[in-house]
Amino acid sequence: MAQARTILGLESSCDDTAAAIVRMPPAPARAQILSSVVYGQSTLHAAYGGVVPEIAARAHAEKLDLCVVEALARAGIALPAIDAVAVTAGPGLIGGVLSGVMCAKGIAAGAGLPLVGVNHLAGHALTPRLTDAIAYPYLMLLVSGGHCQFLIVRGCDDFTRLGGTIDDAPGEAFDKAARLLGLPQPGGPAVEREATKGDPHRFAFPRPLLNKPGCDLSFSGLKTALMRARDTLVADQRGLTSQDRADLCAGFQAAVAEVLAEKTRRALTIYLADNPAQPALAVAGGVAANATIRAGIETIAAENGTIFTAPPLSLCTDNAAIIAYAGGELFAAGHRDDMSLPARPRWPLDSNSPALVGGGKKGAKA
Ligand code: KG4
Ligand code: ZN
Repeated sequence: MAQARTILGLESSCDDTAAAIVRMPPAPARAQILSSVVYGQSTLHAAYGGVVPEIAARAHAEKLDLCVVEALARAGIALPAIDAVAVTAGPGLIGGVLSGVMCAKGIAAGAGLPLVGVNHLAGHALTPRLTDAIAYPYLMLLVSGGHCQFLIVRGCDDFTRLGGTIDDAPGEAFDKAARLLGLPQPGGPAVEREATKGDPHRFAFPRPLLNKPGCDLSFSGLKTALMRARDTLVADQRGLTSQDRADLCAGFQAAVAEVLAEKTRRALTIYLADNPAQPALAVAGGVAANATIRAGIETIAAENGTIFTAPPLSLCTDNAAIIAYAGGELFAAGHRDDMSLPARPRWPLDSNSPALVGGGKKGAKA
């Protein structure tokens, strides 16, 4: 019989420094998060309007070991109780990924523990197994500030990408929209708040790539359309009223929600054609917190008789518990890395799919 394992996970690919301990009993028992520590860096980057890679890398290097000590303390265990060290080895900002990989190598070498490099996107994609123990396969929509893709998830290292953004990630588009309208960061919650007071029909924003077949998405044109609408209002009336701002937010959000819902419908059709016996759709990423977007996706799932899973927001956004969990699955499947594990700024989950040109706040990656 397989044994329970305790995995230490490290995450440092963008602007969150995180460590977590996850206990993984043999299936069908559920994995358990013993501790999850996240040091966000948003205050360090606030003055610059985005993540500054050099500042991020330095902060990760300073905080990672403290995170590990805190994660062990909160879990009430010491390093000898750990079975493997899992670390995000990409994709992401190279300085941050390097900090994490070097820290994990140090711990693994010092404590004589196995090392497992984890693809950050796999961490997100496997989250519904950690939170809801959903079975393979399922369709996953990753929607965050750094990611946007549809994946068929068949195993911990078996992913097929059906499509993704060709430019900005949706969270990044929300953040830019907020900046254009003088709203605070992160932009998503701020835009959503304004949108509740606005008329989504006043501005006719485009629905990018809806007229093209397939599941690829695009959000940068939407941001430009928002900027033009804002500039026209400012030129005509020398400023924006609070109602203008609310209407612009509502129109922008409605466009993002409609595009995501329609592309989800298409991805689900492709997925269900091959997997009719497993009708399951899951989302992950900060943008899934948006009620309008989430409702649109949930409706598509319901119309297609598909079970819908959305992990709690604390596990949708970047953290190390999802990395420890993914590392635990990989470890159980026999994956091992050694001191030659590289830090990879780009690391597509599905190497058979053509490269996406999309960036996201973590930079080009897949
Ligand atoms: O997953 P996440 O914490 O970080 C990564 O990008 O990896 O996602 C953060 C992104 C930000 O861009 C933020 O503006 C967006 O998710 N976001 C939202 C909402 N809450 C967070 N976007 C739209 N509506 C929201 N309510
Ligand atoms: Zn992420």
